[in-house]
Amino acid sequence: MPQDKKLYIKTYGCQMNVYDSERMAEAMGGQGYVTTDSPDDADMILLNTCHIREKAAEKVYSELGRYKHLKAEKPDLKIGVAGCVAQAEGQEIMRRQPMVDLVVGPQSYHRLPQLEARARAGEKALDTDFPEDDKFETLKHRPKAKRGPTAFLTVQEGCDKFCAFCVVPYTRGAEVSRPADRILSEARDLVERGVRELTLLGQNVNAYHGHEGGLAGLIKALSEIEDLKRIRFTTSHPNDMDDALIAAHGECEKLMPYLHLPVQAGSDRILKRMNRQHTAEQYVRLIERLRAARPDLHLSGDFIVGFPEETEEDFQATLDLIEEVRYGSAFSFKYSTRPGTPAAERDQVDEAVKDDRLKRLQALLTRQQRALQDEMVGRTVKVLFEKPGRFAGQMVGKSEYLHAVHVESDTILPGSVHSVRIEDSGANSLSGRLVA
Ligand code: 5AD
Ligand code: SF4
Repeated sequence: MPQDKKLYIKTYGCQMNVYDSERMAEAMGGQGYVTTDSPDDADMILLNTCHIREKAAEKVYSELGRYKHLKAEKPDLKIGVAGCVAQAEGQEIMRRQPMVDLVVGPQSYHRLPQLEARARAGEKALDTDFPEDDKFETLKHRPKAKRGPTAFLTVQEGCDKFCAFCVVPYTRGAEVSRPADRILSEARDLVERGVRELTLLGQNVNAYHGHEGGLAGLIKALSEIEDLKRIRFTTSHPNDMDDALIAAHGECEKLMPYLHLPVQAGSDRILKRMNRQHTAEQYVRLIERLRAARPDLHLSGDFIVGFPEETEEDFQATLDLIEEVRYGSAFSFKYSTRPGTPAAERDQVDEAVKDDRLKRLQALLTRQQRALQDEMVGRTVKVLFEKPGRFAGQMVGKSEYLHAVHVESDTILPGSVHSVRIEDSGANSLSGRLVA
């Protein structure tokens, strides 16, 4: 097959989209496509979209607008929309933007080559099914190329939780766990090709049930792969954090002491309205149990401010919870409506109030993040090195707690783990010296 066609993929949103984009590139590799970093010389442009935050569809239309002149210059250029916006609004996109040749939802990526062929034949090709056949099985043939030291590996998709603000249960569908043997063989293959750290992905990853003992069982099985040095997972729901997974944080050496465990809000009234199905107190007790298993655990979270009907008192409860937990990192968002979700129909909080709350929340989170990062100075941490830094003679990697760490060295190889004594804490990273 001639390797003469170029594919440009623009990826939005979560790590799962990054993983999916890689798989789509591989699937199109079988059709003679190689990837390019520029839309200008592409024969096919794919937007892998995200629907989780505000005005997702509008962003897609404005991005498409930018490609109009390319399509005019090169009528053979095919343009596709993938991901969660495609899933939610595929028909509408095709209707509103005739320049789009194909639309493919997240569960149908293995059918991309057929869709591309239909588009080449002049058809408008749309596939937003939730098919029976397993996209991962069909897409599993990654080329045997060498890989960098870190990789994502999707282990489950979809979510049954139906938080009142969230589109995921609608765009990604019901919770589905991939069979463990397939995950293990994909993991072994990645490790053979140089990967040393795997981040297991899923919209509700700790609901994973494809292995005996759930996600903890899978992590234990993965930790037997000798050259795999580190395991992480994201994103979890507090109610799926079972005893075995809590214990694994203390027992499994390869499982890193960093956990992304979103709580969204600290007021029980709002948590209830969000349909989170736990209280603030239950979340805080859960964190205590996790810290009992792994005292140096760094926590990360997601927060939403200005959820419908949130009062100043409710918001204060979120700040109080943050003070109590102390987060090493966090993501925070103003609530924004998603058509079709229950909260979209409710009384909305004033935009100026949301802005003010987000500012105050982020100021607190930044202070905490900075304080926890500064506390690393003087400590010795293990760093998995990934690549040369911005300056000559520098290597950069990640601590167990996911801090970026810079070290001056000409000898460190990517993929190796070394002890580093931290000497300085900068805006977004640490720096230090190798410990002999
Ligand atoms: N508005 C604001 N934030 C949202 N998130 C999900 N849906 C919304 C919404 N409608 C945030 C949640 C979630 C993260 C991935 O995105 O905090 O954990
Ligand atoms: Fe969305 Fe996460 Fe809630 Fe599932 S658990 S509905 S993915 S916020």
